[in-house]
Amino acid sequence: MSYEVKNKQLLKWVEEVTQLCEPDNVYWCDGSQEEYDRLCNQLVQSGTFRKLNPEKRPNSYLAWSDPGDVARVEDRTFICSISKHDAGPTNNWVPPKEMKKTLTGLFKGSMKGRTMYVIPFSMGPLGSDIAKIGVEISDSAYVAVNMKIMTRMGKAVVDILGENGEFVPCLHSVGAPLAPGQKDVAWPCNKEKYIVHFPEERSIWSYGSGYGGNALLGKKCLALRIASKIANDEGWLAEHMLILGVESPEGEKTYVGAAFPSACGKTNFAMIVPPPAFREKGWKVTTIGDDIAWIKPNADGKYYAINPENGLFGVAPGTSAKSNPNAMASCAKNTIFTNVALTPDGDVWWEGMTDTPPAQLTDWQGNAWTPDCGRVAAHPNSRFTAPASQVPCIDPAWEDPKGVPMEAFIFGGRRSNVVPLIYQSFNWSYGVYLAATMGSETTAAAVGAIGNVRRDPFAMLPFTGYHMADYFAHWLQVGRSNPNPPRIFSVNWFRKDANGKFIWPGFGENMRVLKWIVERVHGRACATESPLGWMPRYEDIDWTGLDMSREKFSDMMSIDRDVWKEEIISHEELFVKLFDRLPKEFLHIRELILSGLWRSPEHWEQHIPTPDEDGYND
Ligand code: GTP
Ligand code: SPV
Ligand code: MN
Repeated sequence: MSYEVKNKQLLKWVEEVTQLCEPDNVYWCDGSQEEYDRLCNQLVQSGTFRKLNPEKRPNSYLAWSDPGDVARVEDRTFICSISKHDAGPTNNWVPPKEMKKTLTGLFKGSMKGRTMYVIPFSMGPLGSDIAKIGVEISDSAYVAVNMKIMTRMGKAVVDILGENGEFVPCLHSVGAPLAPGQKDVAWPCNKEKYIVHFPEERSIWSYGSGYGGNALLGKKCLALRIASKIANDEGWLAEHMLILGVESPEGEKTYVGAAFPSACGKTNFAMIVPPPAFREKGWKVTTIGDDIAWIKPNADGKYYAINPENGLFGVAPGTSAKSNPNAMASCAKNTIFTNVALTPDGDVWWEGMTDTPPAQLTDWQGNAWTPDCGRVAAHPNSRFTAPASQVPCIDPAWEDPKGVPMEAFIFGGRRSNVVPLIYQSFNWSYGVYLAATMGSETTAAAVGAIGNVRRDPFAMLPFTGYHMADYFAHWLQVGRSNPNPPRIFSVNWFRKDANGKFIWPGFGENMRVLKWIVERVHGRACATESPLGWMPRYEDIDWTGLDMSREKFSDMMSIDRDVWKEEIISHEELFVKLFDRLPKEFLHIRELILSGLWRSPEHWEQHIPTPDEDGYND
């Protein structure tokens, strides 16, 4: 090893793993730029990476994965707590002893013919009280270079660990040992995949996949599944949330967190560019994080959040200079692209990047592509890995070890109908209920059918490392212990009209909704009471610069009573599943929402200043 390692636990674990996995070499990552460049060159040599045209995309690379290794594999993801009940019905579970036996069998000799990389990393700014240290052992150089972007990685972390510091051991193998002289493939992986968490032991074992969420173990595995369990034990929150700051023309800064399921708009919302009229007035948005938030109560009674990550692992398709110029600038250089298409001049392209696709491309599977060939050029879950420091609107406080104070939590799914554009929960408990019962149409971020509505509580269905009902109770408890908790909102950018078109323009226009949220937080904006919560009226939203009719707004805001009765019945499905540990509040809140839906229209028209324009379908 090229630097001194004093941590006995770490040395012992690396020795044990070496014995088990039988790699040809062991390499300790120091996290330097020289090392990154060297490993990237090596990946070019081995055919995993293609160096992009340095004129177009300086210091950037493109990888094409195995077509069977393109997304998270939720059915192969396990929470192996000691008791099955602690994993709960929403997680796959196998007794830890049995799982260890299976995994030990699979990892035996799994790194033959390969280099084993020891990758020390910190989730959160180095040395921050909120940060956690992990060490990933992986036989993938692709993982090592991605971890360099996504985390604070290398020797400095080992120095912080010292002799006795604690770390989360994260063991990863692509599960593709090489026989002597056997030539490697561009994207080694195994048909058999296991993404396994031992929450009590605080360890992670991942086998068979090289894809981001399955293989970059600091991200979903440590920063959400393991961290959510630690947070539950210690009284804080580990959430699938972006964090952004809104600065008003008066210079007032408000930080909000937003949880949307995978591929439902977090990266886009985190770096939103307000519409011109808002910018002219002086509204600014800055980014703290785009995927994960660790939120801890502080002595001042506020909740402070950090972004534990150091980079973006963003969805490429749909990202354009128009929809998300900040993301486009973030991946303009020093970026690793996975499963996007290659242009003839050595740059990248994906669906939605430009209105008119290039006449010729090489698609993500390496085949010639033309606009009329009937296939997509980039995989729908293709991604870019880019340093967060390259985000033009990154918040000056994004690496503040203390975090930033949170004033609002926003929850939103992808719903083509049912859920209105925006409403505010009546109080914390209603807010926890709305987040817990959030539904969303499935996306390409996970393997499986796309477009089916499923309950995705808090956008954490695939990421909660313990019993989901205990997680709900934890959230209720967080609010109980705070006299003035953050306000909770529901949004839906994805409602469609009768022709299947999105009604709401989304992206930058979401700023109009965000402004109302910020003003509600500060007790300024008006709202009307609906059966679900507080809603803005047409006149409560700033429409400057957007042509938005009252009718269209009503369409987006409508609460169809019959549809909502169905929706509430579907909440029941989740509740029945979680019955043994479900917080008792939930049943009462459900009844109260139902009673609101049953009230006669006359009754709540009394509260609405412009009854014919209230937007509710009676
Ligand atoms: P993960 O990285 O998987 O957690 O995804 P994410 O939540 O960060 O989603 P992201 O912002 O990458 O957006 C996913 C897809 O949704 C992209 O194709 C976007 O173009 C699209 N999208 C984002 N925001 C909006 C919006 O406001 N309206 C519409 N119609 N589409 C959006
Ligand atoms: C998600 O799927 O929510 C992502 C990408 O952010 S992954 O890292 O694969 O989890
Ligand atoms: Mn995500």
